[in-house]
Amino acid sequence: MARDEPRQLHQQDPQGMRDLILRLPQMCDEAWQLATKATLPRMAPKVIVTLGMGGSGIGGDLLRAVLYDEAPIPTISVKDYRIPASVGRDTLVFACSYSGNTEETLAGYDEALQRGAACVAITSGGELLRRAREREHVTIVIPGGLPPRAALPYLFLPMLGLLARLGVVASYDAQLSEAVQILRQIGAEQGSGPAGLARGLGESLLHRIPVIYSASPFLEPVAQRWKDQMNENAKTFAVWNTFPELNHNETVGWGVDDVLAKTLAVVLLRDRHETIQLTRRVTITRELAFQKAGSVQEVSTTGEGKLARLLSLIMVGDLASWHLATLRGVDPTPVPVIEELKRRLAKSG
Ligand code: F6R
Repeated sequence: MARDEPRQLHQQDPQGMRDLILRLPQMCDEAWQLATKATLPRMAPKVIVTLGMGGSGIGGDLLRAVLYDEAPIPTISVKDYRIPASVGRDTLVFACSYSGNTEETLAGYDEALQRGAACVAITSGGELLRRAREREHVTIVIPGGLPPRAALPYLFLPMLGLLARLGVVASYDAQLSEAVQILRQIGAEQGSGPAGLARGLGESLLHRIPVIYSASPFLEPVAQRWKDQMNENAKTFAVWNTFPELNHNETVGWGVDDVLAKTLAVVLLRDRHETIQLTRRVTITRELAFQKAGSVQEVSTTGEGKLARLLSLIMVGDLASWHLATLRGVDPTPVPVIEELKRRLAKSG
């Protein structure tokens, strides 16, 4: 069995998505270095706007979650062709597109430029890199050849590092070191700890619809990332929501009939730092609403700092989606529907 493992792994995952997930700590280190080398935009921003879709957009959501109770200025994560009316000369815009060819991001970037915003492009190439170089914008060039969603650290951490260097927030160097150490541990554990948990999660989600709930708004982007990875890696339908908002609407939806409820697998994303109000809500909601669910499981963040807590749970979710993909017998890497959609859009434009 042990001898067959590499061959079996290659059959299940010919393009090596698992290895990319396990490279998360190394990528975090590399991504952090990119921020230390980047040229600083010359400005004191009053608003931060991130532009990015899908795997290139979640970094902006993570940035917003980190800065929410720390930065003196707001962060707006945009996933649209349009940008907010408030974008102007005192706005710092991060345009993030792994391929550099995502039309929503390019449209937002062009509009931000017309409004006189300071722009930083984060990309591995494509049209975004071409335009950024032509316009002599600050550009962070990230390594190419990866599926965008597997390049998450490069599309998140350089923004934070750059903002710290600009003095918008304090240094995150210590938090980054803690995160990298914890991610290495998760990668090394395999059969046990959070990594072992990921395997069990993959099994429990098979033939069910993952319902990913973050117990606090801080973990909202993590819940979305879990859902996205279930979609793209495991090629399955999944939903996400967050406490406390879901208590004001979706909780009623658990009045669903028993047969349907059994197909729903709830995964609660918990954090040691969640407030007592939120903990109370989760406990009562479990009793009131989730009794009929096919399964209810809890997964917690690891570590103290925000980066460790966010990234540790992301790594567990990525691994769980990978296990689910292999159990479903699907190749975790290709996303042909997204590619075909982009092809057709390009032809029709
Ligand atoms: C593919 C993926 C997608 C892309 C999205 C935007 O792995 O995750 O969600 O990230 O279609 O494309 P890029 O990232 O090239 O701007």
